[in-house]
Amino acid sequence: MCTACHGEDGTSRTAGTPHLGGQDRLYLERALADYRSGKRQHVPMTSLANALQPADIEALAAWYSARPGFAGSVP
Ligand code: HEC
Repeated sequence: MCTACHGEDGTSRTAGTPHLGGQDRLYLERALADYRSGKRQHVPMTSLANALQPADIEALAAWYSARPGFAGSVP
């Protein structure tokens, strides 16, 4: 459900949607926790993050941080 916007490999093809591939794992965990707590607000990320369990957040952050980072321009 994340790939539609953030891309299969964490490289977004959509303007205004950040690349996640290669991003720092703890940063990704904190970003998702901040959407859940309301500290960071964004539709639709707030509702998406609210549907995640802490274990999902850890797994997603580990997966995206292990993808090759985005380098260059989006096709
Ligand atoms: C409908 C499109 C959409 C979907 C689906 C989506 N995202 Fe996002 N995501 C965004 C946008 C747009 C932003 C930038 C929001 C902002 O400005 O805070 C974002 C931001 C983020 C950020 C913060 C990135 C940063 O650099 O601070 C993370 C982490 C993230 N998304 C993870 C996920 C995960 C994990 C999923 C799947 C559960 C997901 N997103 C699904 C559109 C989406």
